[in-house]
Amino acid sequence: MRRYHSGRDFTRAHSIAELAHLARRRLPHFAWEYLEGGAEEEHTLARNRQGFADIGLAPRTLVPCSTTHTGRTLFGRDLPLPMAIGPTGYNAMLYRDADIHLARAATERGLPFTLSTVSTSSLEEVVQAVPEVNLWFQLYCLRSAQVQESLLARAEAVGCSTLLLTSDAVVLGNREWDRRNFSQPRQLSWRNKFDVLAHPRWMLQALWPKGMPSMGNLQPYLPAEQRTAAGAAHFIGAQMDTALDWDALARLRDRWQGRLLLKGVLHPADAEQAVALGLDGLVISNHGGRQLDGAPASIDCLPAIAAVAQGKLSLLLDSGVRRGSDILKACALGADAVLLGRATLYGVAVGGQAGAGHALDVLARELRLALALLGQPNLAQLDRHWLNTRL
Ligand SMILES: Cc1cc2nc3c(=O)[nH]c(=O)nc-3n(C[C@H](O)[C@H](O)[C@H](O)COP(=O)(O)O)c2cc1C
Repeated sequence: MRRYHSGRDFTRAHSIAELAHLARRRLPHFAWEYLEGGAEEEHTLARNRQGFADIGLAPRTLVPCSTTHTGRTLFGRDLPLPMAIGPTGYNAMLYRDADIHLARAATERGLPFTLSTVSTSSLEEVVQAVPEVNLWFQLYCLRSAQVQESLLARAEAVGCSTLLLTSDAVVLGNREWDRRNFSQPRQLSWRNKFDVLAHPRWMLQALWPKGMPSMGNLQPYLPAEQRTAAGAAHFIGAQMDTALDWDALARLRDRWQGRLLLKGVLHPADAEQAVALGLDGLVISNHGGRQLDGAPASIDCLPAIAAVAQGKLSLLLDSGVRRGSDILKACALGADAVLLGRATLYGVAVGGQAGAGHALDVLARELRLALALLGQPNLAQLDRHWLNTRL
């Protein structure tokens, strides 16, 4: 058991795990469970970390390593690091205006930021606050063609370059903590209301002065009396299109002129279909273990998917990335970059923009160090020969 420092100063957190420790202390229990929890027994959640742990490294020695190269060209843009902030909904429950803080932290470091359909800040608010953001938008396929078209048009109007269609959450995973904590959608149970009172710093940072945040992107589609968090949660629950299939994705391919990625792929046969449809990329993801418990770790699925997709699609990977060496392993197995979910959420929860930036800097520092220690200072030269793995 590690002993982390006991203060509140997040800049002294040496790792993502230490930021998580601080976030857990700062947040009321319901918000911490929302951030950290997985589905059912959390087997997949645990497997995501184990998958990375099971991959060994094969270092070489006597290799000069005073300079490391971590750059990547992704979708025609040079990134200083092979990472982007992935889509997470309802971020302002962790820290007021968290989407904007995350977007600023990513932009300061030359990295893309992905806004969720169910974000708390809207597309327009993010772009107004961070005009230079490299903004990606995550779409949940919705039953109402008009609402979906309106979201796409808004994403285009604010200059989103890249659209991620999430396919693994058309029905919500079995998250018992969610049902336990809320007596009705977004209505806290009494036990949790008392717990909130025991966290005045969080109340000041997240709730004050407007109360529970609502979902910014959905506001134009909600009746006036339902523009609350509860109203938005009800709306999105009813709107999820459970009929989503490959034909719907083909129609979206025709409609969306920008880059289109499918998020939630774990099987090489699905990657083959994505190639046939002319998609630009995939996100190999199990939604951070929040959907199907028992699904494999994303990292375990990467080699087979890379074998069918490489050269034809860009490959991103998420779920369980907590160390620079995880990013190194993903790149060695064929990923172009990783998406960060909880890693940057821990940061934003403890320190807004600076906290999210600290999480990104911790991962960047660890990645450079791992490359130097491995004896391969250039990320672009990595392949599976640098790994000790049966994958
Ligand atoms: C609190 C939370 C909210 C999320 N919300 C969304 C979302 O709105 N849309 C989506 O496509 N994925 C969502 N995800 C999944 C993430 O995009 C990503 O796949 C996952 O967090 C990666 O796992 P990791 O957090 O263990 O790195 C969410 C994840 C978390 C933890």
